[in-house]
Amino acid sequence: MRVAVVGATGFQGGAVARHLAERHHRVRSLTRRPEADRPPLPGAFFLTGDLGVPGDVRRLFAGTTHAFVTMPLVYDEERVEAYARNVAEAALAAGTSRLVFNSNTRLPLGPTDVAAFETRRLAERVLRDSGVPLVVLRPPVYLDNLFSPWNGPALVDEGVLAHPLPESARTAWLSHRGLAEAALAALTREDLEGRTFDIGGDRALTGGELAAAFGRGLGRTVRYEELDPAVFERGLARLLGPATAAGVAGIYHYMASGADPLLMADDDGVSSEVLGVEPAPVEEWVARRPWQVWSSDAEEPDAGLRR
Ligand SMILES: NC(=O)c1ccc[n+]([C@@H]2O[C@H](COP(=O)([O-])OP(=O)(O)OC[C@H]3O[C@@H](n4cnc5c(N)ncnc54)[C@H](OP(=O)(O)O)[C@@H]3O)[C@@H](O)[C@H]2O)c1
Repeated sequence: MRVAVVGATGFQGGAVARHLAERHHRVRSLTRRPEADRPPLPGAFFLTGDLGVPGDVRRLFAGTTHAFVTMPLVYDEERVEAYARNVAEAALAAGTSRLVFNSNTRLPLGPTDVAAFETRRLAERVLRDSGVPLVVLRPPVYLDNLFSPWNGPALVDEGVLAHPLPESARTAWLSHRGLAEAALAALTREDLEGRTFDIGGDRALTGGELAAAFGRGLGRTVRYEELDPAVFERGLARLLGPATAAGVAGIYHYMASGADPLLMADDDGVSSEVLGVEPAPVEEWVARRPWQVWSSDAEEPDAGLRR
């Protein structure tokens, strides 16, 4: 396959691009910042351009056979709609034989006032209405979000997993690797056009069960701490700005409302079976990460000498 990957310099698109390139598929992507310092992606070719510029997106798709598209951290309806239209037009012009759209989240059945859901629903609709052969993947939340400066140190040093999902909300936590495997299957398996998959990890876990799985992977006791979504949003705003933080946090405010407690849960194994994937259990994913990088000891190379 020759695959146009939108978002390959990001976490999700990057995992998919790497998985495809490792399997000798040709990957093309778009970046606004070709000179940025980021991990190498062998086998991928980058064009300079912007999703908001129709000609840039057409150049990205030219000569490709397939596409994997992740929308960036943008929750403005007009911009997302324009991005989706540019992608649809470019895919139709290139004769894309299958486009896999990663909606980056699960979507409630009916309309909500949450931009993180409704902008992705809109993008799905634009792509579907365009007539491009489409498969949609709707992941829940990513385990990789927890291997981060926000969670890593508390997990390693204190055994605390603080997160804004309600403890009781059963969630099929997925890894970026799991997304990449599902994406490859969605790009290549026969007869999937028109289908939408609520992809996820091997099973849905409550906060307590997730903490227990982390405990097994880390070899220590871990407890789940429900974080107030407003506190989460304020922390995120310092990093991403208030508008983007409100966009991301909208999902967690919605989950905290209890309106759809099973939104992030498993789909009884349907996606895994149809896509032929076997996501690794959480403890296995945890055990494979170098958590020591978040340890307070790791920040002080001479800590051992002073003991
Ligand atoms: N479900 C979850 O747990 C979860 C977790 C994290 C994020 N998300 C969602 O996933 C999305 C972001 O994914 P990510 O974490 O992979 O993002 P990321 O690491 O922030 O990367 C964003 C990607 O989009 C590209 N991009 C952004 N604006 C662009 C534009 N105008 N034109 C072309 N490319 C553009 C960036 O490319 P350049 O910067 O190189 O141009 C980069 O490749 C967001 O919608 C977010 O809400 C979901």
